Amino acid sequence: MFPRNFWYVAAWDTEIRRQEMLRRTICNEPIVFYRRGDGAPVALEDRCCHRHMPLSDGVLKGDNVECLYHGLTYDPSGNCVHIPSQTNIPPEAKVRSYPVFEKYHWIWIWMGDPKLADPEKIEDFHWLDDPHWRAKGEKLDLPGNYQLLTDNLLDLTHLQFVHPTTLGTDAIASNPIKTKREGDLIRVTRLIPDSPAPPFIQKAGGFNPEEHIDRWQIIEFTPPAFVRLDVGGARANTGAFDGDRSHGVSMRNLNAITPETETTTHYFWAQAHNFQIDDPTVTELVYRQVHTAFLEDLAVIGSQQNNLRAFENNLPEQVDFNQDAGGIQARRIITRILEEEADVAGFRATA
Ligand code: FES
Ligand SMILES: [Fe+2]
Repeated sequence: MFPRNFWYVAAWDTEIRRQEMLRRTICNEPIVFYRRGDGAPVALEDRCCHRHMPLSDGVLKGDNVECLYHGLTYDPSGNCVHIPSQTNIPPEAKVRSYPVFEKYHWIWIWMGDPKLADPEKIEDFHWLDDPHWRAKGEKLDLPGNYQLLTDNLLDLTHLQFVHPTTLGTDAIASNPIKTKREGDLIRVTRLIPDSPAPPFIQKAGGFNPEEHIDRWQIIEFTPPAFVRLDVGGARANTGAFDGDRSHGVSMRNLNAITPETETTTHYFWAQAHNFQIDDPTVTELVYRQVHTAFLEDLAVIGSQQNNLRAFENNLPEQVDFNQDAGGIQARRIITRILEEEADVAGFRATA
């Protein structure tokens, strides 16, 4: 079960090319993506209404898709417009079409009631195309449930243990976190004063290994699974925690997490920086460092998911600590949304 009335990121803009179809499962639903002649993205249920052939195995004919098997042709709204063996097209000859929207170099898809699909509700990821920032990212295939990843990003205590060669230092776990909730936004803040910079911030900010920095990690979660981190470090005691970040480097770590199935996830992320924006080697450096760390996260989450499977018939209650406050709140929000959406669906079914 996944929240449905949300925009999810379905793909990077470069993944959906003209004259090509891409099959991708989102929230357990196989979908075919392509572009119309004018470049607008299209998303259709990837299943012919005739004998369930994947449409993505067929061929694009202009803006339409022709099924490989018996040649039914669908337009971008999902309506069948041609049946080679007869002239009459019954009204039930159609497939579901999903609202899609292109923004911030991502293709967004609305998985719920199409009448509610308002592009104004797309989450803010302006750092991906803001001229004052540079960003580079990718899509990773996460071998685990999407909430294992929101847990991971909302509790950065793990940096010290999972990412010692890039993001972690010994000073992280011992500094407390503050967790605040504003509606469905959760903000987890950890300030790490006057301590050595991790290798990543040394490289990005030009700090030497002996130098001390004030480091900040401000994590914001919004449902279903968007996590934006305001992170960076500045020379210690130069006022960074009071708003003067001019003696250091600021970055945004941007995460759009899209469930594929209950146990697999499409992980879209990027790292943005607002310093040395005309030097592509800096953009590459910050991307590479985080990429290295995120592959470590993928391995951790894959092991967790394997163990959840191994213990699935007899899984003891997990034990929570202070550091889990953000992740627990996020899960509560999702539980509430699922209940609300089930209530609406139940109401519709009985009305
Ligand atoms: S299965 Fe698609 S036309 Fe028959
Ligand atoms: Fe991590």
